Amino acid sequence: MSELTIRQPDDWHLHLRDGTMLESVVGFSARQCGRAIIMPNLVPPVTSVTEARAYRDRILAALGPDSGFTPLMTLYLTDRTTATEIEQAAAEPHIHAVKLYPAGATTNSENGVTDPLAIEPVLGALERTGLPLLVHGEVVDPTVDIFDREAVFIERVLAPMLERHPDLRVVMEHITTAQAVAFVRSQGERLGATITAHHLMFNRNAMLAGGIRPHYYCLPILKREKHREALLEAAIDPSGRFFMGTDSAPHPKGAKESACGCAGAFTAPVAVELYAQVFDQLGALDRLEAFTSLNGPRFYGLPVNERRLKLERRPQVVPEPITAGNDHVVPFLSGESIDWTASLLDE
Ligand code: DOR
Ligand code: ZN
Repeated sequence: MSELTIRQPDDWHLHLRDGTMLESVVGFSARQCGRAIIMPNLVPPVTSVTEARAYRDRILAALGPDSGFTPLMTLYLTDRTTATEIEQAAAEPHIHAVKLYPAGATTNSENGVTDPLAIEPVLGALERTGLPLLVHGEVVDPTVDIFDREAVFIERVLAPMLERHPDLRVVMEHITTAQAVAFVRSQGERLGATITAHHLMFNRNAMLAGGIRPHYYCLPILKREKHREALLEAAIDPSGRFFMGTDSAPHPKGAKESACGCAGAFTAPVAVELYAQVFDQLGALDRLEAFTSLNGPRFYGLPVNERRLKLERRPQVVPEPITAGNDHVVPFLSGESIDWTASLLDE
């Protein structure tokens, strides 16, 4: 197969930031995706319905008219989030989920939840309203090795949480381990998972062997090959419970190429092409559309997109760093050749 046309994908996990960064990056997602779940880890974070509405307006303004792109907003849970706020969020048509960051787990998570097992009223409200909980699934316990933090989170936090809340709907975001794949499979329809392109493409050697490559540093961190293999199987799994979430996370070049570099891979400029390359290498291009364009809408109870995206096996060079105000942002794999080129078809 050297060309295929699929329903337009959605990105079920995207960081757009704010201000000039937002203005510089949002167009890349809009060129490929119909909708995206927008992460709320701004500084300060998006913790209320009012803030989510205002952030949505800024995204729409940055997109300009006729972009055809719909931002699906989320709220950032803190220790102070109340059940009433969850009920308000569930009643707001533009809010589609709430995000649980264990405090200190990742970029701008300082205001997250210090004890995810101590937010029972919030979890009860999510259960009643059906609003999904999106989970950054890593423990922050400094005695737990960074490569084990996801597996330990499942054991210590996620499994007991799901047991206590049988109607809670959860997406395990950016899963990276065989344990996460097995756990998602062990649960019913109310648990889904997103998978990034970078975790499907690379294991930790890409980041650490032959030199330390900061653009491969993301959280959860890249794992060993056997985990990547489990993710590949999950991505083509016919269960429909695994779907595309790029976790595209732009940072200024200097903040990544630093003695203490930030976590995040800016994959948005070629996200769908990267997934196509992975599915092609697996001989599973026939499964691509379910992963990018069908499974996510089904989990979120939304219609699939009407537009179509054409993918051609035509090499392209991943764009050079882009300008954002006084900064530059380096796309993941910038300057390297990839196999596929995507173009959105006219309506
Ligand atoms: O690599 C990551 N970058 N992982 C996250 O969880 C957050 C994200 C960011 O906001 O930069
Ligand atoms: Zn993220």
